Amino acid sequence: MSRSDWLTCFSLSLVLLLIEAAPPPPTTLRQAADRTNFLVSAAVRPGLFSEAAYTVTLAREFNMVEPEDAMKWQVIRRNADTFDFRPADEVVRFAQAHSMKVRGHCLVWDHNNPEWLSHGGFNSVQLSRILQEHIAVVMKHYSGQVFAWDVVNEALDENGRFKDSPWYNQPGIGLSERGAAYVEQAFRWAHEADPRALLFYNENECEGLNRKSDAVYAMVKDFKLRGVPIDGVGLQMHIPRLDFDSASVAANIARLTVLGLQVHITELDVSLPLDSTGQPQDVDLQRQAEIYREVVRACLENPGCTAIQTWGFTDKYSWIGSHTQGTRGAALPFDRTYKAKPAYDAIFSVILVSRRRPD
Ligand code: XIL
Repeated sequence: MSRSDWLTCFSLSLVLLLIEAAPPPPTTLRQAADRTNFLVSAAVRPGLFSEAAYTVTLAREFNMVEPEDAMKWQVIRRNADTFDFRPADEVVRFAQAHSMKVRGHCLVWDHNNPEWLSHGGFNSVQLSRILQEHIAVVMKHYSGQVFAWDVVNEALDENGRFKDSPWYNQPGIGLSERGAAYVEQAFRWAHEADPRALLFYNENECEGLNRKSDAVYAMVKDFKLRGVPIDGVGLQMHIPRLDFDSASVAANIARLTVLGLQVHITELDVSLPLDSTGQPQDVDLQRQAEIYREVVRACLENPGCTAIQTWGFTDKYSWIGSHTQGTRGAALPFDRTYKAKPAYDAIFSVILVSRRRPD
């Protein structure tokens, strides 16, 4: 064999070797996210695990899940003296079977509580005991299985003031009218219960810079300065308008992560007006895709923003329908037949070209 034949042969083998060694390009959100060590997640309902299209899509597209309702008080504490972990355990089992992470939601909220709690006439000493016990029992049950928890959900109103709540001031756990003291107490109990879990404060309508996000920022900054155990802020991101301001969201994510906190986008959906047949307009679906693209980009561009979670994943099952009496919908990346929408392509393409590298 001549020298040039030998060289050609050598180069060809090298090219073939490289082609074989290179992993195939990602074709799903999950594959794209795994490659960049990013979490893509969806809120799920275990009652739907019997639907093959639901579970197949979920396991193929996401590397994390969060129970939409199954870890709330109204499910786990339907009765005062027992803990019913069955629905939430189903979610954890599903996640483990498919090597997905589990995010927990939520331990302290003024909504979705059982009657016996809301109308039980408990005094502050009793409520404090009930809450501490709940946090301890639930977090220990899922210790090592749920890696991050929304400890407190939606404590503030749109002006950044603490909302009335059984845990705060009606009658509260004994820290009534002392601002964030009850939130702090819940984080301290959560850390005691499971020191390895990441602890998040989760809030709505404070994704960009506004009065409410200023109040969240002030509270978590103070927590960080005083060593209150908090690891992150969840920005819900239920988007009901199509005039989305991504620069404002990026700035808010930036100021939170500068504090050394993680940010998770926790409940992303972009709801659209529906016509009389229940359909969105094509032009809105395109704008929706743009908004998804901007949200995912704002998160991926900041290394402290480590997860994106949609609130459900198929338009077949989304809380928006009941929440808006059917006037809005089509809010998620998959349509009612589990077909990927323009929003899906937008999320996928942003993750695919992300410059973020694995840890
Ligand atoms: C919603 C669920 O999607 C519904 O199924 C349930 O009936 C009510 O709660 N903010 C939150 C979520 O933090 O827990 C809410 O989820 C949506 C708003």
